[in-house]
Amino acid sequence: PEAITVQELAKRMGERGADLVKALFKMGTPVTITETIDQDTAELLIVEFGHRINRVSDSDVDIQAEADVDAPETLQSRPPVVTIMGHVDHGKTSLLDAIRGAKVVAGEAGGITQHIGAYQVAMKDKSKITFLDTPGHEAFTEMRARGANVTDIVVLVVAADDGLKPQTIEAINHTKAAGVPMIVAINKIDKPDANPQKVREELLQHEIIVEQMGGEVQDVEVSALKKTNLDGLLEAINLQAEILELKANPDRPAEGAVVEAKLDKGRGPLATVLVQRGTLRVGDVIVVGAASGKVRAMIDDHGRQVKEAPPSFPVEVLGLGAVPSAGDQLTVVENEARAREVASYRQSVLDKKRTTSAPLSLENMFANRA
Ligand code: GTP
Ligand code: MG
Repeated sequence: PEAITVQELAKRMGERGADLVKALFKMGTPVTITETIDQDTAELLIVEFGHRINRVSDSDVDIQAEADVDAPETLQSRPPVVTIMGHVDHGKTSLLDAIRGAKVVAGEAGGITQHIGAYQVAMKDKSKITFLDTPGHEAFTEMRARGANVTDIVVLVVAADDGLKPQTIEAINHTKAAGVPMIVAINKIDKPDANPQKVREELLQHEIIVEQMGGEVQDVEVSALKKTNLDGLLEAINLQAEILELKANPDRPAEGAVVEAKLDKGRGPLATVLVQRGTLRVGDVIVVGAASGKVRAMIDDHGRQVKEAPPSFPVEVLGLGAVPSAGDQLTVVENEARAREVASYRQSVLDKKRTTSAPLSLENMFANRA
Protein backbone atom coordinates (compact mmCIF):
# COMPACT_ATOMS: atom_id res chain seq x y z
CA PRO A 1 0.00 0.00 0.00
CA GLU A 2 1.13 3.43 -0.86
CA ALA A 3 2.18 6.05 1.64
CA ILE A 4 1.02 9.63 1.36
CA THR A 5 2.15 12.89 2.88
CA VAL A 6 -0.13 14.59 5.34
CA GLN A 7 -0.14 17.63 3.12
CA GLU A 8 -1.28 15.71 0.06
CA LEU A 9 -3.98 13.87 2.00
CA ALA A 10 -5.21 17.16 3.45
CA LYS A 11 -5.43 18.59 -0.05
CA ARG A 12 -7.43 15.64 -1.32
CA MET A 13 -9.75 15.80 1.68
CA GLY A 14 -10.19 19.55 1.42
CA GLU A 15 -9.12 19.94 5.04
CA ARG A 16 -6.43 22.04 6.67
CA GLY A 17 -3.11 20.28 7.08
CA ALA A 18 -2.81 21.58 10.62
CA ASP A 19 -6.11 19.92 11.54
CA LEU A 20 -4.87 16.58 10.23
CA VAL A 21 -1.63 16.93 12.17
CA LYS A 22 -3.69 17.64 15.29
CA ALA A 23 -5.89 14.60 14.73
CA LEU A 24 -2.87 12.42 14.05
CA PHE A 25 -1.29 13.64 17.22
CA LYS A 26 -4.39 12.67 19.16
CA MET A 27 -4.25 9.24 17.55
CA GLY A 28 -0.75 8.87 18.93
CA THR A 29 1.02 9.49 15.63
CA PRO A 30 3.01 12.70 15.94
CA VAL A 31 4.09 13.73 12.45
CA THR A 32 4.71 16.95 10.63
CA ILE A 33 2.80 18.05 7.60
CA THR A 34 5.51 17.00 5.15
CA GLU A 35 5.94 13.49 6.56
CA THR A 36 4.24 10.45 5.09
CA ILE A 37 1.72 8.20 6.80
CA ASP A 38 0.75 4.66 5.82
CA GLN A 39 -2.51 3.76 4.20
CA ASP A 40 -4.13 2.35 7.34
CA THR A 41 -3.55 5.59 9.15
CA ALA A 42 -4.75 7.60 6.19
CA GLU A 43 -7.96 5.56 6.07
CA LEU A 44 -8.54 6.11 9.74
CA LEU A 45 -8.09 9.84 9.31
CA ILE A 46 -10.52 9.87 6.45
CA VAL A 47 -13.13 8.17 8.62
CA GLU A 48 -12.32 10.44 11.58
CA PHE A 49 -13.01 13.48 9.45
CA GLY A 50 -16.24 12.01 8.19
CA HIS A 51 -15.03 11.62 4.65
CA ARG A 52 -15.67 8.69 2.39
CA ILE A 53 -12.99 6.42 1.06
CA ASN A 54 -13.01 5.67 -2.63
CA ARG A 55 -12.54 1.97 -3.02
CA VAL A 56 -11.05 1.06 -6.35
CA SER A 57 -11.42 -2.62 -5.53
CA ASP A 58 -12.01 -4.56 -2.33
CA SER A 59 -8.37 -4.76 -1.45
CA ASP A 60 -7.09 -1.57 -2.97
CA VAL A 61 -8.16 1.63 -1.40
CA ASP A 62 -7.51 4.82 -3.27
CA ILE A 63 -6.83 7.54 -0.77
CA GLN A 64 -8.72 9.99 -2.90
CA ALA A 65 -11.09 10.86 -0.15
CA GLU A 66 -14.12 12.75 -1.26
CA ALA A 67 -14.36 15.99 0.60
CA ASP A 68 -17.33 15.48 2.84
CA VAL A 69 -18.26 19.04 3.46
CA ASP A 70 -22.02 19.43 3.45
CA ALA A 71 -23.18 21.46 0.49
CA PRO A 72 -24.73 24.81 1.48
CA GLU A 73 -28.14 23.80 0.12
CA THR A 74 -28.26 20.78 2.44
CA LEU A 75 -27.82 22.89 5.55
CA GLN A 76 -30.75 23.61 7.82
CA SER A 77 -30.88 25.63 11.01
CA ARG A 78 -30.28 23.68 14.16
CA PRO A 79 -30.89 24.57 17.82
CA PRO A 80 -28.01 26.18 19.73
CA VAL A 81 -26.16 24.03 22.26
CA VAL A 82 -25.83 26.04 25.44
CA THR A 83 -23.56 24.99 28.30
CA ILE A 84 -24.33 26.35 31.75
CA MET A 85 -21.20 27.06 33.77
CA GLY A 86 -20.41 28.77 37.03
CA HIS A 87 -19.30 28.37 40.62
CA VAL A 88 -20.73 25.67 42.88
CA ASP A 89 -24.17 26.52 44.24
CA HIS A 90 -24.59 29.64 42.15
CA GLY A 91 -27.77 28.11 40.77
CA LYS A 92 -26.93 26.45 37.45
CA THR A 93 -29.24 23.49 37.92
CA SER A 94 -31.95 25.63 39.53
CA LEU A 95 -31.91 27.94 36.55
CA LEU A 96 -32.31 25.04 34.15
CA ASP A 97 -35.03 23.55 36.35
CA ALA A 98 -36.87 26.87 36.26
CA ILE A 99 -36.58 27.06 32.47
CA ARG A 100 -37.69 23.47 31.99
CA GLY A 101 -40.31 23.42 34.73
CA ALA A 102 -38.47 20.46 36.23
CA LYS A 103 -37.09 19.58 39.64
CA VAL A 104 -33.66 18.08 39.14
CA VAL A 105 -31.99 19.89 42.06
CA ALA A 106 -34.45 18.37 44.54
CA GLY A 107 -33.36 14.87 43.52
CA GLU A 108 -29.62 15.51 43.66
CA ALA A 109 -27.57 14.16 46.54
CA GLY A 110 -26.67 17.19 48.65
CA GLY A 111 -27.90 19.41 45.82
CA ILE A 112 -24.66 18.85 43.98
CA THR A 113 -24.74 17.99 40.32
CA GLN A 114 -22.84 14.75 39.77
CA HIS A 115 -23.27 14.23 36.08
CA ILE A 116 -23.99 16.21 32.98
CA GLY A 117 -27.60 16.77 32.22
CA ALA A 118 -28.48 17.25 28.57
CA TYR A 119 -31.88 18.69 27.80
CA GLN A 120 -33.77 20.21 24.94
CA VAL A 121 -36.32 22.90 25.63
CA ALA A 122 -38.97 24.09 23.19
CA MET A 123 -39.72 27.80 23.20
CA LYS A 124 -43.08 29.46 22.70
CA ASP A 125 -42.22 30.11 19.08
CA LYS A 126 -41.38 26.38 18.70
CA SER A 127 -37.67 27.06 18.32
CA LYS A 128 -35.51 24.87 20.49
CA ILE A 129 -32.49 25.25 22.75
CA THR A 130 -30.28 22.39 23.88
CA PHE A 131 -28.82 22.81 27.36
CA LEU A 132 -25.90 21.06 29.01
CA ASP A 133 -25.67 21.33 32.79
CA THR A 134 -22.13 20.70 33.98
CA PRO A 135 -21.05 19.38 37.35
CA GLY A 136 -17.71 21.12 37.05
CA HIS A 137 -15.43 22.26 34.31
CA GLU A 138 -13.52 19.01 33.94
CA ALA A 139 -16.14 17.66 31.60
CA PHE A 140 -16.07 20.75 29.40
CA THR A 141 -12.28 20.79 29.31
CA GLU A 142 -12.10 17.06 28.75
CA MET A 143 -14.44 17.28 25.81
CA ARG A 144 -12.53 20.16 24.33
CA ALA A 145 -9.25 18.36 24.79
CA ARG A 146 -10.74 15.53 22.77
CA GLY A 147 -11.71 17.87 20.02
CA ALA A 148 -15.42 17.83 20.74
CA ASN A 149 -16.33 21.46 20.75
CA VAL A 150 -20.04 20.88 21.10
CA THR A 151 -20.88 24.13 22.84
CA ASP A 152 -22.17 27.07 20.81
CA ILE A 153 -22.88 29.42 23.70
CA VAL A 154 -21.86 29.49 27.36
CA VAL A 155 -24.20 30.87 29.98
CA LEU A 156 -22.08 31.94 32.92
CA VAL A 157 -24.12 31.86 36.10
CA VAL A 158 -22.95 34.21 38.86
CA ALA A 159 -24.83 34.53 42.15
CA ALA A 160 -25.49 38.21 42.79
CA ASP A 161 -24.94 37.80 46.53
CA ASP A 162 -21.62 36.01 46.12
CA GLY A 163 -19.88 37.53 43.11
CA LEU A 164 -17.02 36.01 41.14
CA LYS A 165 -15.51 32.91 42.72
CA PRO A 166 -12.65 30.62 41.67
CA GLN A 167 -14.81 28.38 39.51
CA THR A 168 -16.44 31.41 37.90
CA ILE A 169 -13.01 32.57 36.83
CA GLU A 170 -12.09 29.10 35.61
CA ALA A 171 -15.27 29.05 33.56
CA ILE A 172 -14.39 32.45 32.06
CA ASN A 173 -10.95 31.18 31.08
CA HIS A 174 -12.28 27.96 29.55
CA THR A 175 -14.87 29.90 27.60
CA LYS A 176 -12.28 32.34 26.28
CA ALA A 177 -9.95 29.50 25.33
CA ALA A 178 -12.75 27.78 23.45
CA GLY A 179 -13.67 31.01 21.67
CA VAL A 180 -17.32 30.50 22.53
CA PRO A 181 -19.60 33.52 23.02
CA MET A 182 -20.78 34.10 26.57
CA ILE A 183 -23.93 35.36 28.19
CA VAL A 184 -23.79 36.29 31.87
CA ALA A 185 -26.79 35.31 33.99
CA ILE A 186 -26.64 37.23 37.26
CA ASN A 187 -28.71 34.94 39.46
CA LYS A 188 -30.30 35.14 42.91
CA ILE A 189 -31.32 38.80 42.49
CA ASP A 190 -34.19 38.06 44.89
CA LYS A 191 -31.73 37.91 47.77
CA PRO A 192 -31.62 40.97 50.04
CA ASP A 193 -27.84 41.21 49.75
CA ALA A 194 -27.82 40.79 45.96
CA ASN A 195 -25.43 43.22 44.27
CA PRO A 196 -25.56 42.76 40.49
CA GLN A 197 -23.52 45.88 39.85
CA LYS A 198 -20.64 44.47 41.88
CA VAL A 199 -20.71 41.36 39.68
CA ARG A 200 -20.43 43.53 36.56
CA GLU A 201 -17.50 45.39 38.03
CA GLU A 202 -15.74 42.19 39.03
CA LEU A 203 -16.24 40.88 35.50
CA LEU A 204 -14.41 43.93 34.17
CA GLN A 205 -11.29 42.73 35.95
CA HIS A 206 -11.40 39.67 33.73
CA GLU A 207 -11.98 41.68 30.57
CA ILE A 208 -15.62 40.73 30.38
CA ILE A 209 -17.41 43.97 29.54
CA VAL A 210 -21.13 43.41 29.77
CA GLU A 211 -23.71 45.49 27.92
CA GLN A 212 -24.69 47.40 31.05
CA MET A 213 -21.08 48.53 31.26
CA GLY A 214 -21.00 49.55 27.62
CA GLY A 215 -19.59 46.28 26.34
CA GLU A 216 -20.91 43.54 24.05
CA VAL A 217 -21.43 40.62 26.40
CA GLN A 218 -25.12 40.24 27.17
CA ASP A 219 -25.92 40.28 30.88
CA VAL A 220 -29.28 39.28 32.29
CA GLU A 221 -30.48 39.56 35.87
CA VAL A 222 -32.51 36.53 36.92
CA SER A 223 -33.82 34.64 39.88
CA ALA A 224 -34.14 30.91 39.40
CA LEU A 225 -36.00 30.69 42.70
CA LYS A 226 -38.64 33.33 41.87
CA LYS A 227 -38.55 32.55 38.12
CA THR A 228 -37.75 36.20 37.44
CA ASN A 229 -36.75 37.27 33.92
CA LEU A 230 -36.24 33.76 32.53
CA ASP A 231 -37.71 35.06 29.27
CA GLY A 232 -34.99 37.69 29.22
CA LEU A 233 -32.33 35.00 29.44
CA LEU A 234 -33.96 32.92 26.70
CA GLU A 235 -34.20 35.99 24.49
CA ALA A 236 -30.51 36.69 25.02
CA ILE A 237 -29.72 33.11 24.00
CA ASN A 238 -31.91 33.32 20.92
CA LEU A 239 -30.33 36.61 19.90
CA GLN A 240 -26.84 35.16 20.24
CA ALA A 241 -27.89 32.03 18.36
CA GLU A 242 -29.27 34.11 15.49
CA ILE A 243 -25.94 35.86 15.13
CA LEU A 244 -24.17 32.49 14.96
CA GLU A 245 -26.48 31.19 12.19
CA LEU A 246 -26.12 27.60 13.36
CA LYS A 247 -26.74 25.07 10.66
CA ALA A 248 -26.23 21.38 9.93
CA ASN A 249 -27.25 18.86 7.31
CA PRO A 250 -29.80 16.51 8.87
CA ASP A 251 -29.96 14.20 5.83
CA ARG A 252 -26.73 12.26 6.14
CA PRO A 253 -25.28 9.56 8.38
CA ALA A 254 -24.92 10.95 11.87
CA GLU A 255 -21.88 12.30 13.62
CA GLY A 256 -21.93 13.34 17.23
CA ALA A 257 -20.05 13.63 20.47
CA VAL A 258 -20.38 11.76 23.73
CA VAL A 259 -21.38 14.05 26.56
CA GLU A 260 -21.17 11.35 29.21
CA ALA A 261 -21.29 7.57 29.43
CA LYS A 262 -21.78 4.89 32.03
CA LEU A 263 -22.37 1.20 32.50
CA ASP A 264 -25.94 0.38 33.46
CA LYS A 265 -26.41 -2.95 35.21
CA GLY A 266 -29.45 -3.95 33.24
CA ARG A 267 -29.03 -2.13 29.95
CA GLY A 268 -25.27 -2.28 29.45
CA PRO A 269 -23.16 0.64 28.22
CA LEU A 270 -25.14 3.87 27.94
CA ALA A 271 -23.83 6.95 26.18
CA THR A 272 -25.43 10.37 26.16
CA VAL A 273 -24.70 11.65 22.70
CA LEU A 274 -25.22 15.03 21.15
CA VAL A 275 -25.81 14.71 17.42
CA GLN A 276 -23.78 17.31 15.52
CA ARG A 277 -24.73 16.59 11.96
CA GLY A 278 -26.87 14.05 10.19
CA THR A 279 -29.64 12.10 11.87
CA LEU A 280 -28.93 9.17 14.17
CA ARG A 281 -31.39 6.32 13.82
CA VAL A 282 -32.19 3.10 15.63
CA GLY A 283 -30.37 0.33 13.76
CA ASP A 284 -27.42 2.50 12.73
CA VAL A 285 -24.00 0.86 13.05
CA ILE A 286 -21.77 3.14 15.08
CA VAL A 287 -18.24 3.61 16.30
CA VAL A 288 -17.89 5.70 19.42
CA GLY A 289 -14.32 6.24 20.49
CA ALA A 290 -12.92 2.74 20.76
CA ALA A 291 -16.35 1.18 21.21
CA SER A 292 -18.61 -0.06 18.48
CA GLY A 293 -22.12 -1.37 18.23
CA LYS A 294 -25.53 -0.92 16.75
CA VAL A 295 -28.07 1.57 18.05
CA ARG A 296 -30.57 -0.67 19.82
CA ALA A 297 -32.67 2.11 21.30
CA MET A 298 -32.49 5.84 21.93
CA ILE A 299 -34.03 7.66 24.87
CA ASP A 300 -34.67 11.41 25.02
CA ASP A 301 -34.38 13.68 28.08
CA HIS A 302 -37.97 12.91 29.07
CA GLY A 303 -37.24 9.19 29.20
CA ARG A 304 -39.16 8.53 26.00
CA GLN A 305 -37.93 6.20 23.29
CA VAL A 306 -37.18 7.95 20.03
CA LYS A 307 -36.38 6.49 16.64
CA GLU A 308 -34.44 9.47 15.29
CA ALA A 309 -32.12 12.11 16.68
CA PRO A 310 -31.49 15.17 14.43
CA PRO A 311 -28.68 17.74 14.87
CA SER A 312 -28.33 19.28 18.37
CA PHE A 313 -30.56 16.59 19.83
CA PRO A 314 -29.26 14.90 22.99
CA VAL A 315 -30.08 11.20 23.33
CA GLU A 316 -29.06 8.27 25.44
CA VAL A 317 -27.84 5.54 23.12
CA LEU A 318 -28.14 1.85 23.96
CA GLY A 319 -26.31 -0.88 22.09
CA LEU A 320 -22.60 -0.17 22.44
CA GLY A 321 -20.18 -2.99 23.22
CA ALA A 322 -18.16 -0.92 25.68
CA VAL A 323 -18.42 2.31 27.63
CA PRO A 324 -16.91 5.26 25.70
CA SER A 325 -15.50 8.45 27.26
CA ALA A 326 -16.81 11.98 27.32
CA GLY A 327 -15.74 13.77 24.19
CA ASP A 328 -15.50 10.63 22.07
CA GLN A 329 -16.73 11.10 18.56
CA LEU A 330 -19.64 9.05 17.26
CA THR A 331 -19.51 8.05 13.63
CA VAL A 332 -22.02 5.99 11.68
CA VAL A 333 -20.26 3.46 9.46
CA GLU A 334 -21.49 1.21 6.67
CA ASN A 335 -21.34 -2.15 8.44
CA GLU A 336 -20.34 -3.96 11.60
CA ALA A 337 -17.10 -5.29 10.19
CA ARG A 338 -15.96 -1.75 9.43
CA ALA A 339 -17.12 -0.64 12.89
CA ARG A 340 -15.03 -3.30 14.60
CA GLU A 341 -12.04 -2.43 12.44
CA VAL A 342 -12.14 1.27 13.28
CA ALA A 343 -12.85 0.57 16.95
CA SER A 344 -9.98 -1.86 17.32
CA TYR A 345 -7.62 0.52 15.60
CA ARG A 346 -8.64 3.28 17.98
CA GLN A 347 -8.17 0.89 20.89
CA SER A 348 -4.66 0.04 19.79
CA VAL A 349 -3.89 3.74 19.53
CA LEU A 350 -5.20 4.23 23.05
CA ASP A 351 -3.11 1.33 24.35
CA LYS A 352 -0.04 2.73 22.71
CA LYS A 353 -0.65 6.14 24.19
CA ARG A 354 -1.13 4.68 27.65
CA THR A 355 2.23 2.94 27.56
CA THR A 356 4.26 5.64 25.89
CA SER A 357 3.13 8.85 27.50
CA ALA A 358 2.27 10.29 30.84
CA PRO A 359 -1.05 12.09 31.13
CA LEU A 360 -0.71 15.32 29.25
CA SER A 361 -2.74 18.33 28.48
CA LEU A 362 -3.58 18.33 24.83
CA GLU A 363 -4.03 22.04 24.93
CA ASN A 364 -0.41 22.51 25.93
CA MET A 365 0.79 20.09 23.32
CA PHE A 366 -1.14 21.79 20.57
CA ALA A 367 0.20 25.12 21.64
CA ASN A 368 3.70 23.73 21.28
CA ARG A 369 3.08 22.39 17.84
CA ALA A 370 1.27 25.38 16.48
P1 GTP B 1 -23.65 22.62 41.71
O1 GTP B 1 -24.33 21.70 40.75
O2 GTP B 1 -23.36 21.97 43.02
O3 GTP B 1 -22.45 23.30 41.14
O4 GTP B 1 -24.69 23.81 42.10
P2 GTP B 1 -25.62 24.63 41.11
O5 GTP B 1 -24.89 25.77 40.54
O6 GTP B 1 -26.33 23.71 40.17
O7 GTP B 1 -26.66 25.27 42.16
P3 GTP B 1 -28.12 24.76 42.50
O8 GTP B 1 -29.05 25.01 41.38
O9 GTP B 1 -28.04 23.38 43.05
O10 GTP B 1 -28.50 25.83 43.64
C1 GTP B 1 -27.76 25.97 44.83
C2 GTP B 1 -28.63 26.59 45.91
O11 GTP B 1 -28.97 27.93 45.57
C3 GTP B 1 -29.96 25.85 46.12
O12 GTP B 1 -30.24 25.82 47.49
C4 GTP B 1 -30.96 26.73 45.39
O13 GTP B 1 -32.25 26.64 45.93
C5 GTP B 1 -30.37 28.11 45.60
N1 GTP B 1 -30.76 29.02 44.51
C6 GTP B 1 -30.61 28.81 43.19
N2 GTP B 1 -31.08 29.87 42.50
C7 GTP B 1 -31.54 30.75 43.40
C8 GTP B 1 -32.14 32.05 43.31
O14 GTP B 1 -32.38 32.62 42.23
N3 GTP B 1 -32.45 32.68 44.47
C9 GTP B 1 -32.22 32.11 45.69
N4 GTP B 1 -32.56 32.81 46.78
N5 GTP B 1 -31.67 30.90 45.81
C10 GTP B 1 -31.34 30.22 44.70
MG1 MG C 1 -25.99 21.79 39.71
